[in-house]
Formats: sequence, C-alpha cells, structure tokens
Amino acid sequence: MDPISLLHEPSLSGFGEVAPPVFQNSLFAFATSAEFEAAMKSGEKPVYTRISNPTVRAFEKKVAALEGAEDALAFASGNAAMTAVLFTFLKSGDRVVAATPVYAGTYGTLTKLLPKFGVGVDFVPGTDTAALQAALPGARMLLLESPTSYTFELQDLDPLTKSAREHGVLSVIDNTYGAGVYLRPLRFGVDLVVHSATKYFSGHSDVVAGAVTGSKNLLDEVRSLGTVFLGAKLAPWEAWLLVRGLRTLQLRLQRHEATALELARYLDSHPKVKRVLHPGLSGHPQNGLAKKYLEGTGGLFSIELKDEKAARAFSDALNLFAIGVSWGGHESLVLPLASQPRVREAYGFPPGLVRLFAGLEPAEALKQDLEQALAATA
Ligand SMILES: Cc1ncc(COP(=O)(O)O)c(C=O)c1O
Repeated sequence: MDPISLLHEPSLSGFGEVAPPVFQNSLFAFATSAEFEAAMKSGEKPVYTRISNPTVRAFEKKVAALEGAEDALAFASGNAAMTAVLFTFLKSGDRVVAATPVYAGTYGTLTKLLPKFGVGVDFVPGTDTAALQAALPGARMLLLESPTSYTFELQDLDPLTKSAREHGVLSVIDNTYGAGVYLRPLRFGVDLVVHSATKYFSGHSDVVAGAVTGSKNLLDEVRSLGTVFLGAKLAPWEAWLLVRGLRTLQLRLQRHEATALELARYLDSHPKVKRVLHPGLSGHPQNGLAKKYLEGTGGLFSIELKDEKAARAFSDALNLFAIGVSWGGHESLVLPLASQPRVREAYGFPPGLVRLFAGLEPAEALKQDLEQALAATA
C-alpha cells in the first residue's frame, strides 16, 4: 500500500484544492471535432461520465496505488465490478472454477446469470488446493475470495495462481476483506482484483460501489466491454465520498482489527461459544495461511453458537450490534446466518453460525454488549 497516495492527489482544477471537486456532469463538450476525436482516441480527456469522469478517476487512481496495480476501474457496486469482469472475459462454452464459499451475490451471478449465456461453473472447496488445481485444465477463469466472508477460510494463492498461469486460466480474486491493506493479491500472481468499495473503502455505510484493479492490458479490455457496454459506472458524488473514505482507510482498519481480535479472543474462551472463526486466532485451521498472506485481519469474523435458537436470541439481545448484511462501516453489526437461508443451505453452514463486524465503538463497550447478550442466550 502507498499511504501517501491515499491522503494526497494532484489538483484537478489548478487551484490547489486539497479535496477533489465533484465533476457532477454527464458530458464533457469540445469546440472542434478534431479535439473531440483526439479525446475519444486517447482516453486521456473525459468525454462522457459512463466512460470516465475526473472525480471517479481520482478514486480509481487511489485504488490502483493501494493494490500496487497499473490501473483501476470503478463501478456502481461490487457486484457490478464482478459482473463486468465475468462478462468481459467469458464466452459461451467457457468454464469458471470457483473456490467456495463465494460471496452470495457472486454465487447468484454464477448460478443464475452465467448459465443463461452458456458458461459453466465448477464449485470447489477453497481449502482444497489440489482439487482446485485439478479443475483448472480447460477452464477459462479461477475465481477466488480469501479469506471468505462467512467462515474466513483462506486459499493458498501462490500454488493456485501458478497452476492457473500454467493452464492459461485468468485468476480473479474478491479482495473486499483485505482491502488492499491486509492483502495485496497481485503480489501473489493474481491477475485481477475485485472490491466491494461499499465496505472498507467507503467506511461510513453511505455508498454502494465497486472497483477492479490489475494490469493496464486487462483493464483496457474491462473498460471497453464491461464498463462502456454494461454501463454500471460509478457516479461522481459516490466517487468523492470514496476518496474521502480512503483517507482514513488505514487508521480505521487498525482499529477494526484490534477490536475484532480482542472480541474474538474473549468469545473464544466463552463457554456458550462453540467455535470462533477468525483467521488471526492461532486455533483457526488456516492461521498458517493467514500468516503467509495477510498483513492484518480487519473487523469481520464469525462465531458458532449451540443452535439456530441461540443464534437468533443472541443477535436479538445485542444492543450495539445492529442486524445487517453489510460491513466495513463505522457501526458494529451482527448477522445470524439462520436468517439467510439461501446462503446457509447453499454452503451447509451450521444453524448456529453468526457473523460479527466490530465497528469503531470502544472495544470494552462492545465486549460488555456481547457478554450481556450471551447471558441472555440459553
Ligand atoms: C465479500 C463481498 N464481495 C462482494 C460484495 C458485493 O458488493 P456490493 O454490495 O457493493 O455489490 C459484498 C457485499 O456484501 C461482499 O461482502
């Protein structure tokens, strides 16, 4: 990560502004047809906001710097970013190898949208490196997400991207968890990195957005097919909020990480908690992979309680953790997977699984809230 580029960017207006102006316009007009054609050809000057906009570009440049990538593209949501990648690089007859459990929205795209266009998907457990490698010959794309966002298993990126390259398979990772701070997948040979910018990049639960980073060549393809024709480009105001969010990304993540680790350790020793699924705990089955690939662990983790009744009672009894699907904002959240039956059944998650997100509230207050909620749970 380049922390300076998260804080600073060149002035767009020439007035030396320290925060970018919001270019809240759809169109950039030209005096002559020659200027217009030159702008269309070079792509350096904005022409139309569905293709490029200076405020959006300021956000894209920060995301590229964060991931150490040649370029980045911003989208109207994380799902739009993933869909743009899938539609750019896949065609009828292709096969995707997806490491499970993938995020539910991606799972929906893979199982409901892609089959309509003749693209097949092999779902393979993300912890089974040999099985993933065995599925690669003849595939077009390897889809990773590490750690996964419900049960926090990691995938062994080095051997997987090496095999993908050997078989001419494009590797794509959802790096929403690592946010370019705790995981920088391009270092481990991944070709394209996808983000839900809705989460940590925004940090304030006030934006829905996505991004893709990678080499200029690959992103030029995504730009010309996935951005221009699918059309789910990020809007300027959202980009402005994201530029602001990114300035505190590193600070916020440090706090999320410290609080989540403190809560996870506390819960790990609680008699009513069967299991804590946090990759930073030494007892986590992939703690070795976490040490190899992650530079930190963020605010999201899960616990397993006795059964569905306990999971619901615990979630309802919490006061500082609101029940909600998203994460990455300032506020603590809880998600009993029992109330997400499609996800739970697709992956066979245990009925007592509960996902927690440690927000920016004081750790001690959150711990006390967990304690009272567990006391109220049979
Ligand atoms: C891991 C992960 N990837 C992708 C997404 C999709 O992002 P968005 O909701 O911005 O479309 C989410 C959203 O919850 C997510 O948690």
